[in-house]
Amino acid sequence: MSDVYPVPEAFAAQANVTAADYERDYAESVRDPDAFWGRIAQRLEWSRPPTRIRDVSFDREDFRIRWFADGELNASVNCLDRHLATRGDKTALIWEPDDPAAEPKHVSYRELHARVCKLANALRSLGVKKGDRVTIYLPMIVEAAVAMLACARVGAIHSVVFGGFAPNSIADRVADCGSKLIITADEGLRGGRKVPLKANVDAALKMPGTQSVETVLVVRHTGAAVDMQMPRDRWYDAVADGQPGECEPERMNAEDPLFILYTSGSTGKPKGVLHTTGGYLLYAAYTHEAVFDLREDDIYWCTADVGWVTGHSYIVYGPLANGATSLVFEGVPNYPDYSRFWNVVDRHKVTIFYTAPTAIRALMREGAEPVKKTSRASLRLLGSVGEPINPEAWRWYHEVVGDGRCPVVDTWWQTETGGILISPLPGAVDLKPGSATLPFFGVQPALVDAEGKLLEGAAEGNLVILDSWPGQMRTVHGDHQRFIDTYFKTYPGMYFTGDGCRRDEDGYYWITGRVDDVINVSGHRIGTAEVESALVSHPKVAEAAVVGFPHDIKGQGIYAYVTLVAGEVESDELLKELVAHVRKEIGPIASPDFLQWAPGLPKTRSGKIMRRILRKIAENAPDQLGDTSTLADPSVVESLVKNRRDA
Ligand code: PRX
Repeated sequence: MSDVYPVPEAFAAQANVTAADYERDYAESVRDPDAFWGRIAQRLEWSRPPTRIRDVSFDREDFRIRWFADGELNASVNCLDRHLATRGDKTALIWEPDDPAAEPKHVSYRELHARVCKLANALRSLGVKKGDRVTIYLPMIVEAAVAMLACARVGAIHSVVFGGFAPNSIADRVADCGSKLIITADEGLRGGRKVPLKANVDAALKMPGTQSVETVLVVRHTGAAVDMQMPRDRWYDAVADGQPGECEPERMNAEDPLFILYTSGSTGKPKGVLHTTGGYLLYAAYTHEAVFDLREDDIYWCTADVGWVTGHSYIVYGPLANGATSLVFEGVPNYPDYSRFWNVVDRHKVTIFYTAPTAIRALMREGAEPVKKTSRASLRLLGSVGEPINPEAWRWYHEVVGDGRCPVVDTWWQTETGGILISPLPGAVDLKPGSATLPFFGVQPALVDAEGKLLEGAAEGNLVILDSWPGQMRTVHGDHQRFIDTYFKTYPGMYFTGDGCRRDEDGYYWITGRVDDVINVSGHRIGTAEVESALVSHPKVAEAAVVGFPHDIKGQGIYAYVTLVAGEVESDELLKELVAHVRKEIGPIASPDFLQWAPGLPKTRSGKIMRRILRKIAENAPDQLGDTSTLADPSVVESLVKNRRDA
């Protein structure tokens, strides 16, 4: 039994969507998606309004996902120009620097428009055209949003690479999409520490496959001295500042790509998730307004990084398309101390706050005092995203952070989905701690068993989505077959999310986590295969197997089993060297928490590693190993159990 938190009456009275609206509109949205989405589409400004709304088939032989296919629009016009007449002086972005003693900045819609136009003109002058790819590797500064919108203005497809990724990861992503230009900064700043962004780009561009890059634009941020290699490297301000503050937007078809964002899957290298202009923008904007119950005077803060999809949809595109004020935070939750989030809330009178369970758990560990010494009276709504939130953390968030006043929206979605698919609408749906509750308009979740049989009523199984929604990804960049095979092959005719899920007797959804070889570390998605290939790229490693294990703060941690090349000696030094090697190859987010020497790995007679067993050992559940009789050499298991690293 779980407890229920009913919609507070005062909240329901002023909400954008009430319980009655939700019931009525959800029913229409699945009964007649053309009528529903045709109406919702009018909230965007189209240079040519769509007459065709939905054109979808999940059938692998006749596959297509198209929304608003004859419509034309420009995303930057929708995020900027459209607001100038009514909201020109309204703050679009508030920038809160890493150093709390430094001055925050307020950027109005008018100023943001001018800055985007200048950069867009600069991009055109550097030869960037519609359809070209541009990589953005920036810290959390205003220029990150400017860069994304400037790409959108000229029809270039941006690929934002998280500032925590290492040169190798940048190079892979640049090579995969053939970027012509990279926008970076001299350095980033996080928790008082400097991140050598430009130096990382320099290292990446020495790697094979990156010759497509002609220009690197460098934002002066910390003012650090960096190597500038002329004519490739150009200072951002030198090329943008002198440009005109108006720029003719490229006319884009609704199905023209807006961006590529790389994310990890269960096999191989990260895939370039491709989102298109019309459906994505509409879905990001509409979910942002409905799920966060957006009002004109809200100060909205999402703590994600623009390097992840949450930053794309709910810092930049959704809020700006809605004419909202969105806060961009450069720092981290524990710098200079554990009150930072709440001091920022008080300083800017934040009304809506959206963060990840891992941050909540880390803050919870420090107790209530750093929260309670701040006011937080401005807050009216809290959100959670990125991983399952345990009911204990949910309650702490609700009671301690929100003083029991603010509904908590637990929003389930994925890079692939473009926007939120399952979440309470705060004025309409009663909450249960730990449940993402009910589907958004137009979304039809279902549970299937391993054979693909649809499960009815209260049940537990794999989460699929039965029909398309406008924000759905359209392809894997450069590999359409991989897209179809990854998401539509396991359960033909359905989109497979990769998540396990339970549905309770009230029809509420409870996401239980990934059922594939993807692990979710502090809300960051990492493929076990990527960490394994980083490990085996070390000359002393013969073989590696990586699994996730439950971690109090991070949700999941990374546990690696390593077999050394014959003749190499296991040592604590080598262990540290291997962890450092993974950081260097992928980035700090992929560092294994535990690394165990494995003279042998549990394999079937056909040579397949049995990860199920490795997971149980990492979880310290040796009594649940299950059937090991199909192993080629069952004795390896015993030795692995005996030598488990103590979590
Ligand atoms: O396992 C689910 C988990 O994060 C995965 C998607 O990761 P990513 O593409 O990086 O996008 C994260 C931000 C949208 C999902 O397959 N996940 C995300 N949100 C939740 C969640 N798990 C449970 N509850 C959530 N609210």
